[in-house]
Amino acid sequence: MDNRAIGVFDSGLGGLTAAQALRGLLPDERILYLADSYNMPYGEKNRARIVEMSRMDLRFLLEKGVKAVFIACGTATSNALEILEKESPVPVFGIVGPAAGKAAAATVNGRIGLLATRASVRAGSYQRAIRALDPRLAVTAQACPRFATMVEDGIFEKDDEKVLAAAAEYLPPLKQTEVDTVILGCTHYPLLADVIGEYMGAGVKLISAGAAAAERLAAFLGANGLLNSSGGHGGTEYYTTGAPEAFARTAELMLRQDVRGKLTGLEPFDKAGNM
Ligand code: DGL
Repeated sequence: MDNRAIGVFDSGLGGLTAAQALRGLLPDERILYLADSYNMPYGEKNRARIVEMSRMDLRFLLEKGVKAVFIACGTATSNALEILEKESPVPVFGIVGPAAGKAAAATVNGRIGLLATRASVRAGSYQRAIRALDPRLAVTAQACPRFATMVEDGIFEKDDEKVLAAAAEYLPPLKQTEVDTVILGCTHYPLLADVIGEYMGAGVKLISAGAAAAERLAAFLGANGLLNSSGGHGGTEYYTTGAPEAFARTAELMLRQDVRGKLTGLEPFDKAGNM
């Protein structure tokens, strides 16, 4: 038994979709959620910068004394997971492997679509993970650079013009290759599941990478005797390196909950800016 909190990080609010899935599975756990909103979007940075930012996120959570770190970000997982795994004294979980496993199990026609950030698609992490499971599976990967920032700004209603225009720009290659399964490879994208699902058609399965990874993490903690035994109801504390009010506003749209009382604004870890 281990009553320390679980640390979760993302570049912004998208990781809340993964944290919520984790909360549903493990209601007694304490969760510390870090959004590096100052540096969002990670998906538009180069690999070295993503590694640097992810290391700072890891360090912050370790200093808070967490028992495990959940990288609720496809971009950080794709570019920094192996490095963080080596450097962390506590277990680190990414979202790519679990999502690849779910998609490989779900597809019937062997054609999988991947929607992710530019830096995730470029890293090739999802594609490699799927091929390693079954080399016959074909992956159509599409970068969706505007999706995450739209969600971050609270724009994710399915009849919003910007959302529809972005979907019409990004989704045709997946439709043309007749994928029957689509990985939502960035944790911001489940907020756009309605519009993506409608465009792709009812027969296409959508896999939330963050939710798939939450299941893997919950199973690991259970199997290794690391669950919280205090019996109390676990809560979530939120931290952002960006503007707290902007975080709170979009978080409220996403969670239908006012998080202001549990939110701490942080100085950006590194004001050096983008590379
Ligand atoms: N939510 C992050 C992911 O899963 C990325 C958003 C960003 O580009 O910062 O990839």
